[in-house]
Amino acid sequence: MPEFVKLTTQSELPAVNEAKEFPCGDKTICIANVNGNYSAMDNVCLHRGGPLGQGMIEGGKVVCPWHGWQWNPATGEAAHNPNARVAVYPLKIENGEVLVEV
Ligand code: FES
Repeated sequence: MPEFVKLTTQSELPAVNEAKEFPCGDKTICIANVNGNYSAMDNVCLHRGGPLGQGMIEGGKVVCPWHGWQWNPATGEAAHNPNARVAVYPLKIENGEVLVEV
């Protein structure tokens, strides 16, 4: 059953309109901060596996640092193809801890 696990602390979260990657068990999670709204998605780009958490945010989308595919961090959808979708994970912040449901 999915459960919330601690990913990081609130102070480690990315700044406004930045993304950052965090290890989580055997996965890596990309946290995006779009205008102060945090969301968690899988870090692996579906194109060729680029690290989304090392990308920039432009127009509310996470831009893969390798070839520029853009991903909606709220839905996981690729901007150019809604059928291409990376996993997104519920995220909550409690007492300064960042929890994701994986
Ligand atoms: S690996 Fe992400 S755009 Fe190519």
